[in-house]
Order: sequence, then structure tokens, then C-alpha cells
Amino acid sequence: MPGMRTQVGIVGAGPAGLMLSHLLHLRGIESVVLESRSRDHVEHRLRAGVLEQGSVDLLCRSGVGERLQREGLRHEGIELRFAGESHRVPMADLTGRAITVYGQQEVVKDLIAARLAAGGSILFEADAVRLDGLDSDSPIVHFRRDGRDEELHCDFVAGCDGFHGVSRGAVPDGVLTTYERTYPFAWLGVLAAAPPAVEELIYANHERGFALYSMRSPEISRLYLQVAPDEDIAAWPDERIWAELRARLETVPGWSLNEGPILEKSITPMRSFVVEPMRWERLFLAGDAVHIVPPTGAKGMNLALADVALLGDAFAAWYDGGRTDLLETYSAKALRRVWRAQHFSWWMTSMLHRLERDDPYESKLQTATLRYVATSEAYARSLSENYVGLPEV
Ligand code: APR
Ligand code: PHB
Repeated sequence: MPGMRTQVGIVGAGPAGLMLSHLLHLRGIESVVLESRSRDHVEHRLRAGVLEQGSVDLLCRSGVGERLQREGLRHEGIELRFAGESHRVPMADLTGRAITVYGQQEVVKDLIAARLAAGGSILFEADAVRLDGLDSDSPIVHFRRDGRDEELHCDFVAGCDGFHGVSRGAVPDGVLTTYERTYPFAWLGVLAAAPPAVEELIYANHERGFALYSMRSPEISRLYLQVAPDEDIAAWPDERIWAELRARLETVPGWSLNEGPILEKSITPMRSFVVEPMRWERLFLAGDAVHIVPPTGAKGMNLALADVALLGDAFAAWYDGGRTDLLETYSAKALRRVWRAQHFSWWMTSMLHRLERDDPYESKLQTATLRYVATSEAYARSLSENYVGLPEV
């Protein structure tokens, strides 16, 4: 059976796997990335788009931030709309940090370009099917490519293959503990060829359901609507989407959104999910493979990058001088940030969405919470420091 060898075998070419491969390369450590989809698919898959300050710093510091700095949109605040009111949270004033709006697929494109320019090995349309020997010093990733079975032999495996990947399932029964919550709603997301009517994101709590106004560039808007979890996208022709967005967002006198052709639309379920620990023997799990957050806190891509920043340091310490301490503390350290983001994402989600059954008590609590953010500098700072990302957790 054809086999190859590397130091770190990485499953998945999302932000986690690609960034890890890049960081390892900078430390002189070899890796091979296996990705089941095509390059075109991963470069055009529409995903999240908010980078915390720490993520921007990591991308820039490691030499892949050039286009991000040119094209990314720096935002110093967000707007909250509720009960017919509008309130700006001045995040940069409150924390000294900001966020940058830059699509996840752009981060993926930049990382792929950097890895390939440096002679890095990313095998597209290579589907990892099974991990073996994780408790030995030479694990193997079995994968299929062009209809053939192949093997990747390595010192360590990094499972960066997202929620539906194979890596998490390679851990023996009884080792991992799962924590999860599903929500009784989903998001319908659209990408529209319409110049954003605002400079900052708007998070709207409305009796018809949550809405979010985001963007990708001065020409492209990204908008989301809370819908039922089993909603059929066919029931949402473009005119219905715009009517619903107008109803939920045009709640401030004199303000209206800009409409334009809808380029893409899809429905995403919402869940919170964590498995612990993030390591078993020579398998290290990172990103969506081990934790999912609802998108309301804009944390998914940032957590994936934060995980692999720790992993990069841990592998470097091992290859430099055989140090195992950072490999051993990886899971516990990463999980502190993961749980902070779990709480923040759950909190934002609970504050902003219409809950399953109309519960007037819950809805009064939501308004009270939003009003507290709007009037208390301490509370607004708490939201802001979580949103822009905490340097230490
Ligand atoms: N073999 C090879 N590749 C696989 C396999 C497999 N068996 N299973 C999944 N993959 C690939 C997927 O095709 C995907 O490209 O793993 C990659 C995982 O990437 P992401 O899903 O982007 O996950 P991650 O890198 O952890 O980034 C998390 O993605 O879903 C968003 O909101 C989330 O922003 C967050 C980010
Ligand atoms: C996005 O622009 O895709 C986006 C922004 C903020 C979120 C989620 C998604 O909370």
C-alpha cells in the first residue's frame, strides 16, 4: 500500500489545520494536510467572518496578514437594536481592541497560498478514513485518494477535521465526555450584492425573531434571520427574505437597509458542543472537531486559531528539546478559552433570539439585559472584552 511519512499528520484543511501546518513550517516542523474536499470547494465555502484582535495579530505576526490588512474591515463597535431602540457598544473605547470583518474563506485562501508557496504539502480530495496506532510512537492515518487506499505515517496526528470528521471517533469509548445543547432555531444566512447600509454590525432582538446585519466588503452585505430549525429554504424566495429583514431591522425611524440581488442563501443549525479532553495519546484535536458554538458570539474561527497557536508551541517544544509539558497542558489550557467562549456565545444567543414558546417573562428579561448593556459601562465592557477576544483566560 502506498505510504508516506511526515512529522505531524493533519486531518482537515479548514482554518485550524492550515494554520497549524503554517505555524509548524515556521518552526521547521514538517506536516502533511489531508483534506477530503477540493481546493475550490474549501476556498469558496461561505462561513463566518469576524476575527478577534488576537486572531488578526496571529495572522499578521506569522506573515499571512498582508491581504487581511488591506481588505479586512476594522470595526470598533457594534449596534444593538431592541424594543424600538438602537444602541452602539463602543468596543474599542471600552477595551482598546477591535474586530476585523474578513471572510473565513479568505483566511483559508491566504493560508493555502502561503503553504503552497513554501512547498508545503496539502492533499486535496484525500479522505481520511481511519486513524491507527495513536497510542504508539508512529501513528498512521489511512486515507483514500483517487479510489486508492493510502497511508500517512507520522509522529503525531492533529485532528482538525471539523464536527463531521473522523478524528474524534478514533478515541476509544469512555475517554471523552461530551457537553452539548441544541437550540430550537436556526439561522438563514444570505449574501447579497448590496452595499451595506451601516458601517458596523447590527444585532437585532425583535418579536419576530433575531436578525443580524453584517457585511463582507463595501459592495457585499451578509445578513441573517432566525428561523425554525426544520425550516425549508424553498419557502424563502428572495422577496420574503427582504420583507422579513425589513420588518426586524427597520425599527429605527429614518433608517432603511439596502437591497440587491441575493447571491447565496443557506440554513445553519445552532448548537453548543464540547468534548473533553482535546487529546488522547498522540492525537491532538482542534477547532470544530472538538467544540462548536452558536454563531451569535462570532467565536468559531477564533477558537480554531487559538487552539492551533497553542498546539504549534507545544509541538515546537517537543521537537526542539523533547519537552512534553506543553503537549500535556494543551487540552486544559485550550479548554479554558473554549468554555469562556461557550458561555459568551450562549449568553448572546439567549439574549437576542425569540425563544421557542412565546414566553413573556423571558422576553422581559432579554429587554432588561439589553438595556443594562446600553446603560452600564461595566456590563458593556464585559460584552466588549468577550467579543473582541480576551488575551488571557
Ligand atoms: N478527511 C479529510 N478531511 C476532512 C475529513 C476527513 N475524513 N472530514 C472533514 N474534513 C475536512 C472538511 O472538509 C473541512 O475542510 O476538515 C475541514 C474542517 O474544517 P472546518 O470545518 O473549517 O473546521 P476548523 O478548521 O476547525 O474551523 C472552524 O469553521 O465551521 C466553521 O464556525 C466554524 O469558524 C469555525 C471554523
Ligand atoms: C458574519 O459576518 O458572517 C457574522 C458576523 C457576526 C456573527 C456571525 C456571523 O456573530
